[in-house]
Amino acid sequence: MPFRLDGRVAWVTGGARGIGAAVGVKLAEAGARVAVMDMDEDALASFRARMASENDGVFKTYRGNVCDEASVAEVVRAVTADLGPVDILINNAGIIRDRMFRNMTLEAWRTVLDVNLTAVFVCTRAVIEGMAERKFGRVINTASISALGNPGQANYSAAKSGVIGLTKTLALEYAPHGVTVNCVAPGATLTEMTRSLPMEAKKRFIEKIPLGRMAEPDEIAVTHLFLASEEARYVTGQVVFVDGGVSCGF
Ligand SMILES: NC(=O)c1ccc[n+]([C@@H]2O[C@H](COP(=O)([O-])OP(=O)(O)OC[C@H]3O[C@@H](n4cnc5c(N)ncnc54)[C@H](O)[C@@H]3O)[C@@H](O)[C@H]2O)c1
Repeated sequence: MPFRLDGRVAWVTGGARGIGAAVGVKLAEAGARVAVMDMDEDALASFRARMASENDGVFKTYRGNVCDEASVAEVVRAVTADLGPVDILINNAGIIRDRMFRNMTLEAWRTVLDVNLTAVFVCTRAVIEGMAERKFGRVINTASISALGNPGQANYSAAKSGVIGLTKTLALEYAPHGVTVNCVAPGATLTEMTRSLPMEAKKRFIEKIPLGRMAEPDEIAVTHLFLASEEARYVTGQVVFVDGGVSCGF
């Protein structure tokens, strides 16, 4: 069976719902023990309720804020004690605060940069040296099709482009230590994040998708599974656009 993760410990940030939850399930199905961290207690509770019947004992959930270094350190201590040291980090937590640039506040800029970019620095720093010492690690970051530019998302686009630069630099620094660092860049995906977008905006977006529809979270998570696997050991510093073809052509 390809892409097995037996014996591995994975930590998924923002993992209680949406793409993160789908990634957690995918990694667990492949044999990993999965630490699901989220700041939303209600989302964690529904995740636990859903998983109790399906995957009892495979998941542990942790409440924490990826932007807060102390909270991240506490979660990493608890995960290590409960499951063992982290082998696979999925930097998935993200938010949007969309406004055209002329109306964008500095607060909305900072908040989005903080959650989508600076938190990737904070969470990665909390585990990557341990991975390097053990000579195995997978860091999988989350960019977006919006990294290529999207009106109304100057903050988000800048953050996600930053994630791509961070991914490539970390890939170079940690390649000699057995740690690969890659990035998944989803296109429009059916989650809470996109649920609130106006129908007109969604229609316009879908018209630009060559495959003609938005993605299910599961269709994104399969790429995380590949990148986390032993088979992906020669893949590092890459950005995989899983976007129904939007990033092709001109
Ligand atoms: N849905 C899309 O169309 C889409 C497209 C491209 C990229 N992405 C990216 O994929 C990732 C997941 O998005 P999603 O659509 O599943 O979103 P979502 O809103 O459904 O889930 C995000 C999760 O992150 C958690 N979170 C937010 N801030 C946090 C914090 N400070 N600390 C801990 N947890 C926090 C939320 O509570 C939530 O459970 C994000 O990085 C997003 O930017 C999403």
